[in-house]
Amino acid sequence: MSTSPTARIYRPTPRNLAFLANVLARGGIVAAPTETVYGLAADARNAKACRDVFRAKGRPANDPLIVHVNSLDQAGEVAALNDAARSLAKAFWPGPLTLVLPKQPGVPAIVTSGLESVAVRMPAHTLFRELIERSGCPLAAPSANPFGYISPTTAAHVRDGLGQRIKYILDGGSAQIGVESTILDLRNPSKPAILRPGSISREAMEMVLERKVAAYTRKAPAHTAAPAPGMLERHYSPRTPLTLVDKLAPAFLHKLANNEAVLFVHQPRLSQQTPNVFWLANHGEELMAAAHNLFNQLRMLDSGGWTQIHAELAPGSSALALAINDRLSRAAAKRGPA
Ligand code: TXA
Ligand code: MG
Repeated sequence: MSTSPTARIYRPTPRNLAFLANVLARGGIVAAPTETVYGLAADARNAKACRDVFRAKGRPANDPLIVHVNSLDQAGEVAALNDAARSLAKAFWPGPLTLVLPKQPGVPAIVTSGLESVAVRMPAHTLFRELIERSGCPLAAPSANPFGYISPTTAAHVRDGLGQRIKYILDGGSAQIGVESTILDLRNPSKPAILRPGSISREAMEMVLERKVAAYTRKAPAHTAAPAPGMLERHYSPRTPLTLVDKLAPAFLHKLANNEAVLFVHQPRLSQQTPNVFWLANHGEELMAAAHNLFNQLRMLDSGGWTQIHAELAPGSSALALAINDRLSRAAAKRGPA
């Protein structure tokens, strides 16, 4: 059963941007595009506005938010920057890299779930940056999806998930990257560690820092505080059961029931058309295309009436392969005991 959404989608006209920035400055919440996924934004200094973000998402309070900024100065108002953070900011900001650093006193506890650290990033999307600029607020923004579901990469995805719970969605088309930012723990700059894989690679950060960066592990490292949602086993999950296959061989298709779908990373070369075969990237396309399509394709499959989705893992160990496979593995994780 579908009810009519109360959220309105705003085109990115100067007038609408001014209006939505004003909503944010007055403590409202607005879904807006970033280059990774859409975020649900609120003034990061306003505890009540941030509480509304948690409520709209159904997100548990022990799951801290990322604060988005528009300048290095503003980052310094949110987090205590160290030299490593400055070097990485210079190399990768604006862009899909989130740094976890000691927090400044002005950040309300609700944003960081009571942690002494805060996650901060400068997004590359000009519309999101304009909202920060025009509102004058650092913007706390988790992905704009109901907690645990697939992250949104279009305004329509946001409306599908949160349309009954929020009023304002800024339309910036389809998010370019399609998977969330790389998160790097830099609380101790001599021991940087990846908390969530994204499109910025460990190797690229090691080059800038001139030191080893601990690779991402599914288990939270001992020095990390409360387990973060990025660390939740089950996340990004379609309702349809999803299983993973290392590499899908075309022969696999013969064993499929009619109501089961398969998701290849690259378009397979098949002798005949099969209606239950899907892929993330066309022949010859890079993994960038696969990352860009990942969440949209999972949503399409989830509403396609399939009883089971079999998805292939991305090949290799590039940053995007690790990010795609991390999201797929969480999407496939079994629901824990209720
Ligand atoms: O690309 C992105 O990062 C998107 C866009 C909207 O910027 N945002 C995003 O937010 O993915 P969210 O809330 O879905 O994921 C934020 C992650 C969570 O896994 C959270 O645990 C982690 O950031 N995080 C936030 N603060 C943290 C902290 N102080 N220490 C460790 N992890 C933290
Ligand atoms: Mg999220």
